[in-house]
Amino acid sequence: MPNKNPFKASSGTTPPLLVGRDDYIEDFTYALDNGPGTHERTTLITGTRGIGKTVLLNHFGDKARERGWFLFEETATPGFVNRLRDQVYQQIRTLGEGSRKTLKALNLNIATLGGVGATFDTLPDHLPNYTLRMALQDLLNFQKQQATHIRQEPSGILITVDELHYNVLAETRDFGAVLQHLTRDNENIAVAVAGIPSSVKPILASKEGENPVTFLRRTNRVELDKVSTDEVRRGLVIPLDATDKSWDTVALKMAIDACGGYPFMIQLVGDWCFRYSETNTITPDVAQKGIAKAQRKLGQLVHEPALNDLSDIDRTYLLHMAQNEGESSTSEIAAKLKKTVQYANTYRTRLLEAQLIHQTRQGYVDFELPYLREYLREHEASMILDYI
Ligand SMILES: Nc1ncnc2c1ncn2[C@@H]1O[C@H](COP(=O)(O)OP(=O)(O)OP(=O)(O)O)[C@@H](O)[C@H]1O
Ligand SMILES: [Mg+2]
Repeated sequence: MPNKNPFKASSGTTPPLLVGRDDYIEDFTYALDNGPGTHERTTLITGTRGIGKTVLLNHFGDKARERGWFLFEETATPGFVNRLRDQVYQQIRTLGEGSRKTLKALNLNIATLGGVGATFDTLPDHLPNYTLRMALQDLLNFQKQQATHIRQEPSGILITVDELHYNVLAETRDFGAVLQHLTRDNENIAVAVAGIPSSVKPILASKEGENPVTFLRRTNRVELDKVSTDEVRRGLVIPLDATDKSWDTVALKMAIDACGGYPFMIQLVGDWCFRYSETNTITPDVAQKGIAKAQRKLGQLVHEPALNDLSDIDRTYLLHMAQNEGESSTSEIAAKLKKTVQYANTYRTRLLEAQLIHQTRQGYVDFELPYLREYLREHEASMILDYI
């Protein structure tokens, strides 16, 4: 039996078993098959770091590819709209390779920009005035013509955009306008975007320009949350079926508890327990060592970037919370911050929106991410220095 470690504890890497997301994948797949106008064809995924946004986007991409769709994937850093345009342009050129037809005969937008009598072979590597909207229209039209020719159903286009951020508000607005036009024209196109709540919220709330706001606001919202204990168990056990290792009952219980429903921990705990086990059984001793290592890794991979997303005062708020064992009273934190309750509430709201904390009862909050309390305690000194 192969004995390769099946767990994939790395950002954006598809896990051996994606647990707890079947409904979202089903809804999205249904929308791909059901045709233009289906609500889930534009989907916005939000959730805290490490909850599985990127891997869900990848799954959506796989479903589109399996159906013969074109897939264009981008990260929303500056220039993403033009990069998408370039990708689509290259796809059109690839499709047209070997075709002797002039672009004019095909009635494509590139005909105007490519020059009279231009063919696919004479197209330049870059067409600066070519827009994403033109490129998508061309690809859809070209594909429809080819499909008719070979008597096939034309397939569609899926665009995925990861790490949506308000830094690229203007581009997101352009992107939204393009998509809005194409969906209004009933084109066979679908879009899935993802981002952490604190980066996406300002875009949804933005009043500058109408388009991205209406476009993103009307999308199907997928707010990713932790997964159930049963799903965690499946995520830890099933991948081992393909190996010669298995969990001892007590070790499995320890591992499940350590994950706290958090998808990244399933991979980290699985990964390190597998690595540390020298026999066919993952024993409680191994589990203890593996869990401790997984917790440290989680700090580097998730807590550190999550804290970097925050302001100094947000971080200080969390540092004060970390001094308590369980839930924290919001008025007590306000007092420690030497601020009014109202002022402290602004930060509390932001942290709630970022899904780093949750309300336990009226006036009390606790940490959402597993082991963030312990991480903050360990790194308190360096963080307070940063704040000063
Ligand atoms: N549903 C799931 N089942 C099992 N493992 C998962 C699941 N979702 C994510 N993972 C694992 O968790 C890790 C983090 O996933 P991913 O990178 O998709 O998170 P993210 O939400 O995109 O994080 P970030 O906001 O930092 O980009 C990966 O190792 C991935 O394999
Ligand atoms: Mg991601």
